[in-house]
Amino acid sequence: MTGRQETIAAQVVRWQAEHGRNHLPWQNTRDAYRVWLSEIMLQQTQVATVLDYYPRFLEQFPDVHRLAAAPQNEVLALWSGLGYYSRARNLHRCAQIVVQAHGGQFPRTVPELAALPGIGRSTAGAIAAFCFGVRAPILDANVRRVLTRVLGFGADLAEAKNERALWLSAEALLPHDDLPVAMPRYTQGLMDLGATICLPRNPACMLCPLQQVCVAQRDGNPQGYPVRTRKLKRSAQAWWLLLQRDGDGRLWLERRPPAGIWAGLYCPPVYADRDALEAAISASGAPGTDLPAFIHVLTHRDLHLHPVLVRGAAAPAHCAESSQAGWYTPQQWQTMGLPAPVRKLLGSL
Ligand code: ADE
Ligand code: SF4
Repeated sequence: MTGRQETIAAQVVRWQAEHGRNHLPWQNTRDAYRVWLSEIMLQQTQVATVLDYYPRFLEQFPDVHRLAAAPQNEVLALWSGLGYYSRARNLHRCAQIVVQAHGGQFPRTVPELAALPGIGRSTAGAIAAFCFGVRAPILDANVRRVLTRVLGFGADLAEAKNERALWLSAEALLPHDDLPVAMPRYTQGLMDLGATICLPRNPACMLCPLQQVCVAQRDGNPQGYPVRTRKLKRSAQAWWLLLQRDGDGRLWLERRPPAGIWAGLYCPPVYADRDALEAAISASGAPGTDLPAFIHVLTHRDLHLHPVLVRGAAAPAHCAESSQAGWYTPQQWQTMGLPAPVRKLLGSL
């Protein structure tokens, strides 16, 4: 154990006692049912809202047995307004498992707690620390922000190995002594720092007990943490392109909407599927010829393009109003703004 780590835990504990929140209704108890209920409610709901729901819920379901025995719709009705109803269903199932498999007593270790429905590692750590003085870290969004800043932890948390490394650092920072008293204070202290001092935009570093050891504050860059790249899932989308030529070799083109893919560029009419495309040409009665489909790769999406060539002088039927839609000669469209794959496609006709 290094001196710095000991200092961080001790400072958080001392600060919490003096400046933290110590009168929330789920504090000053080691009743795991009450702590568990509050932590589940606080997972995605602000303290002010939970202050309203928590006492009503406890009044109707004062212990885990009463909750487990209730019909699910009664639980959902009391949850109504808190949102994220899978939390309520998990809450109910969790109560039933605690009654049936654990004799009505919440288990005291993080792995056992985290095996229950709706309890992730951080919530398990909070319950274990608050109720049983277990030396377990938490890492909810607020605490993640505080710790990455203090440590200057700049690795990308979208990567599992970095997330694991942060958990290990969080564990190393925990108090070592007087755990039954220190763990609840330390855990609440980190939550309180995240909620009241180390704010996302304007952290009040001047009021922070960790100011002297905080790497982000030293470097003047608290806002640079935590680092998490968005891992956008690639998606695929099909676009059916209506390439309609009239007897003079002119093409029907329209301008794309000002936002979205190919915004503001000229393009043949686009349809979501073959049926929609055929509905648009059926007015002119001309049969279409399928050209080879191809994939155009965008940043977050693969566009599967299905060009269909049609002859006819009647403008395609349309739902969307399009400005500057019309017939364009090759001389004209060659000088207009077209998406590169469309320009290539038209050039090959
Ligand atoms: N958010 C999550 N757990 C909390 C707690 N115990 N007190 C205040 N806010 C919280
Ligand atoms: Fe957050 Fe500033 Fe405290 Fe560092 S010194 S933990 S950035 S409030």
